[in-house]
Amino acid sequence: MKRIALIAGDAHPGLAREIAQGSGAEIVPATITAFADGETRIRIEGDVRATDLYIVQPTSAPTNERLMTLALLADAARIADAARITAVIPYFGYARQDVRNRPGEPRSAQVAARILKCAGVDRVVTLELHSAALESAFEVPLTNLLADEAMLPVVRGWRLPEPVVVSPDAGGLKRAQRYAAALAAPLAVIVKTRPREDVAVALQVLGEVRSRACLIVDDMASTGRTIAGAAQALLEAGAREVHALFIHAVMAPGALDRITSAGVQKIATTDSLPAARDPRMEVVPTAALFASAVTGLAGEAGTPRR
Ligand code: R5P
Repeated sequence: MKRIALIAGDAHPGLAREIAQGSGAEIVPATITAFADGETRIRIEGDVRATDLYIVQPTSAPTNERLMTLALLADAARIADAARITAVIPYFGYARQDVRNRPGEPRSAQVAARILKCAGVDRVVTLELHSAALESAFEVPLTNLLADEAMLPVVRGWRLPEPVVVSPDAGGLKRAQRYAAALAAPLAVIVKTRPREDVAVALQVLGEVRSRACLIVDDMASTGRTIAGAAQALLEAGAREVHALFIHAVMAPGALDRITSAGVQKIATTDSLPAARDPRMEVVPTAALFASAVTGLAGEAGTPRR
């Protein structure tokens, strides 16, 4: 049996500790600081030799630094002879830049995935990736967890009258479809356009929402404009009330105010990111989900790569 070890990156140490507790992984400390010129400096302070090692680090803002820290931790672990290195990335930054929309643009999500592989990451565990297209970008085995089982009891508890599940854009349709099926509710979708970065405009509501309780389902809220725009469009289309569920609370400044000012009443999200707690959001814990993935992977038959 390999030792199961876990390193908490600097992005969400609280969640990392809970995952360690839930999975029985031994926490190996690491120092993460910066040199005077801003370069990241890391040092693993314990023995990771021959371990089945999990590094927990959402690559949230500041995304480049979190990503680089994760890559450096993986490289340090590889040199220190960890048997297998799994990056546990509760929120994968750059995920939305997974396709080239215009000539001259990169596929940033693929680049981020490649950086991790080059650094020595053997496997990735993440939660609710932005798109299915992105799953194939990882050139290492990927476990993409879904939060449905954790989120559904919260939404069921809201007892929405005549609910309809709404995808705020075409890209989120499959996700919304899953929730609609689980809640035995009909589905609606919003035609959304992005005239420029971080601006979302809801053009049209497709589906019957009049006099219904709408549940907007999305993978994340960043500026909150997608959900706010959707809520306004739904209310204008005669919706009785609007609620929202999103997995990753990226929450740029002002996002939550924007969402609630648009008329969204109940909000559910997860703790994949260390978002500020706010009584307006019900935050569903995800540690058990990740801990069970770690336990499952650690118990898998098969030999570590190294
Ligand atoms: C877009 O494709 C995503 O699924 C989200 O709808 C979007 O990223 C949310 O961003 P914002 O809150 O800035 O509108």
